[in-house]
Amino acid sequence: LPRVLSGIQPTADSFHVGNYLGALRQWVDLQATHQAFYSIVDLHAITVEQDPADLRRRIRVAAAQLLALGIDPQVSTLFVQSQVPAHTQLAWVLECLTGFGEAGRMTQFKDKSARGGADRSSVGLFTYPILQAADILAYAADAVPVGEDQRQHLELTRNLAQRFNARYGPTLTVPEPYILKATAKIYDLTDPGVKMSKSSPGGSLDLLADVKASVKRIKSAVTDNEREVRYDEDAKPGVSNLLRLLSVFTGASIPELERRYEGRGYGDLKGDLAEAFAAFVTPLQASVAGYLADPAELDAVLRAGGERARATADATVAAVYERVGFLV
Ligand code: TYM
Repeated sequence: LPRVLSGIQPTADSFHVGNYLGALRQWVDLQATHQAFYSIVDLHAITVEQDPADLRRRIRVAAAQLLALGIDPQVSTLFVQSQVPAHTQLAWVLECLTGFGEAGRMTQFKDKSARGGADRSSVGLFTYPILQAADILAYAADAVPVGEDQRQHLELTRNLAQRFNARYGPTLTVPEPYILKATAKIYDLTDPGVKMSKSSPGGSLDLLADVKASVKRIKSAVTDNEREVRYDEDAKPGVSNLLRLLSVFTGASIPELERRYEGRGYGDLKGDLAEAFAAFVTPLQASVAGYLADPAELDAVLRAGGERARATADATVAAVYERVGFLV
């Protein structure tokens, strides 16, 4: 079977619909056709300051959400990044192949460090994409399901794999991004010009948020001054974003939805999306609560996944170390 690897940061108390539609839905689907490795990337989470108690809680909440969404730990290897030392071992070798300027051109680093100021950004934030490359290359992943915002990091990963192979001989698998166009970028509800993110207060739609509060957010989502429910990303970014969400949550195509709302207003569209979203998250939240009720069992599932992940990733590190010239 071809392999997939992907990761998600445990940096918030809930995943949002951008995470779900951009990546996690594909994680679940790809289990059927691929050997899958899915990681809660806690090492990446500490590139910005984290409270230890929050981090520990969020790792478990992340795991519970992944299980509730349909990641089957018997089928996929679900693990916590810090429990697999091979990631940091491989990252060092890759760091030594990465140009300083090359790393400095990563737009997520530039955005995040611009916000905090250069002196307040860590070196870890700078090398973040190289650790991500190690995550992927350690498992010889063929495909990496992510949202559009990760495309540049995937390009770096491909370049580093090719560079390693050119210098030391064919060793690493060059991965392809797996980005579904229709849901690659979900936008903020209060500002449809920017992507939905964990740090946007009020504009994200969180899977574990109080359902009534989410309904309110949907109903006050920014649209435009027209009345026509029509998909047009440039002229009508807010309405198009809502249509995209409704399409996924109901299974109806966008043209179908455009026909359904002909002659009807944005209120109807928002009301139906609120209903569909509530119907999706209500059982999900109950399922998450069930997993969180037994943290010892959750930790055991993750430890078992970590063991399986180590077996695969250690083999890659051994091959890489041998190629580089270390004594093995
Ligand atoms: P993270 O934790 O920020 O996000 C997890 C996944 O959600 C996607 N995503 C979105 N997709 C569509 N619209 C949005 N508004 C949106 N917001 C987030 C992200 O693209 C991602 O797929 N660097 C990664 C984590 C990572 C990783 C990896 C991913 C570490 N190592 C190895 C893949 C492979 C990140 O910060 O994702």
